Amino acid sequence: MVALDIVHASNAQLRELGPGLVALFVGGTSGIGEFTLKAFVQNTISPRVYLVGRSASAAERIIKECEGLNKDGKVEFLQADVTELAEVDRVCKEIGTREKTLNLLVQTQGNFTFAGRQENDEGLDRKMTLNYYSRMCFIHNLRPLLRNGAASPPHFSRTLSVLSPGSERRVDLDDLELKNSYSGMKCANHTVLMNDLMTGEFASREPGTTFVHSFPAGVNTGLARGLPIWARVPLKVLTPLLSPFLVSADETGARQLFIATSGIYPPAKPVEGSPFATGTPVPKTLNVMKGGDGQTGSGGYLVNWNGEITGNKILDEYREKGASKTVWEHTMGIFDRVDKANQGKVDAGSS
Ligand SMILES: NC(=O)c1ccc[n+]([C@@H]2O[C@H](COP(=O)([O-])OP(=O)(O)OC[C@H]3O[C@@H](n4cnc5c(N)ncnc54)[C@H](OP(=O)(O)O)[C@@H]3O)[C@@H](O)[C@H]2O)c1
Repeated sequence: MVALDIVHASNAQLRELGPGLVALFVGGTSGIGEFTLKAFVQNTISPRVYLVGRSASAAERIIKECEGLNKDGKVEFLQADVTELAEVDRVCKEIGTREKTLNLLVQTQGNFTFAGRQENDEGLDRKMTLNYYSRMCFIHNLRPLLRNGAASPPHFSRTLSVLSPGSERRVDLDDLELKNSYSGMKCANHTVLMNDLMTGEFASREPGTTFVHSFPAGVNTGLARGLPIWARVPLKVLTPLLSPFLVSADETGARQLFIATSGIYPPAKPVEGSPFATGTPVPKTLNVMKGGDGQTGSGGYLVNWNGEITGNKILDEYREKGASKTVWEHTMGIFDRVDKANQGKVDAGSS
C-alpha cells in the first residue's frame, strides 16, 4: 500500500511541472471525479480544467469551490450527456478548438441502475457507453492532444479511467456489446475487462502517454442517486455503518490523483531527458510498477485504490488467448459504425 503521506508529497510535486497544465474530467460533477478534480486544482499552478457532465448546478458549485482552492485556476463546464458518442465527439471537437495539448484525462462517468439494456439512437446500451465506449472514444479522439502533451514541455501526458480492475469475470467475446444477452452483471464484466485490455492497447500505440484503469474501493458518492427509492432508503441507513470500510472524499481525491500522475506508472517510452515525462518523481521507498501485461513500466496499468497493481487469473487467460486484439478491433469497429450512422443522419438532415 502506498502510504498517504507519500501520496500527498507526490501530488504536491505537480507544482514543479510549472503553470498551465490542461486537464479534462469527464464525470467531474460528482463523487470520485469531483474529488480528484479538486485535488488536481489544489496541487497545480494555473491549471486549465474542463469539466464534463450533465448537471449545470453541480458544475457551478464545483467551479466556485475551486476558485477558493486555487484563485489562478480556470475550470470550465462543458455540458454533455455522454451516453451518446455523438456528444463525446462534439465535446472533443470543442476542446480541440481551444487547446493544442492535453496533459491529463480523468474519466469517472457512470451510474448505478437496475434497469436492463437501454439502447441509445446509436444502437449502444447507455450504461455500457458510460462505463466503456464513451471513455475509449474520449481517449481515441483526444490522442493527438495527448500526443502533443507528451511532445511539449513538461512532457506530461496521462489518462485515468476509474471503474473496477481486479473484479474480472468471464465475458462473451462473440457479443462484446451485449446485444443478445444483456444483464447488469454482464455489463459490469464486459466493461471492466474491456477497460483493462484497452489500457495495454493504447499504451503500445501511444508510448508517450500513461493509461491507467483504477479501482477506487468503496466511496460514499452520489452513485446511488438513480436507484428507486426502495433501494436508496436502506442504502442511506446502511452507509454510516459501512463508513469504517469506505475511503473518504479527500483521501480518494488524493489517491486517484497520485495514481493518475505518479512516475511509478510511467508511459511505455517517455521523452528522454525530461524530468516529468515519466510522471512525478518515483518516491524513494517505491519502484516502477508492472503494467497489465506483466512488464515493468509498460505504460498501461491496472491499479487498486491503494496504489498497488491489481488484476486476476481470468484476465491473464483472456490476454493469453489474444482478447486484447479482439477488443481493440471490436471497439474501433463500433466507432466506425456509429460515425457512419451519425454522418448519415447529418446528410439526411441537410438534403
Ligand atoms: N463509489 C464507489 O464506491 C465506486 C466503487 C467502484 C467503482 N466505482 C465507479 O467509479 C465511477 C464514478 O463513480 P462515483 O461513485 O464517483 O459516482 P457519481 O458520484 O455518481 O459520479 C458519476 C459522474 O458521472 C456523471 N454522469 C453520469 N451519467 C452521465 C451522463 N449520461 N453524461 C455525462 N456524465 C454523466 C455524473 O455527472 P452528471 O450527473 O452531472 O451527469 C457524475 O459526475 C463509476 O463508474 C462507478 O461505477 C465507484
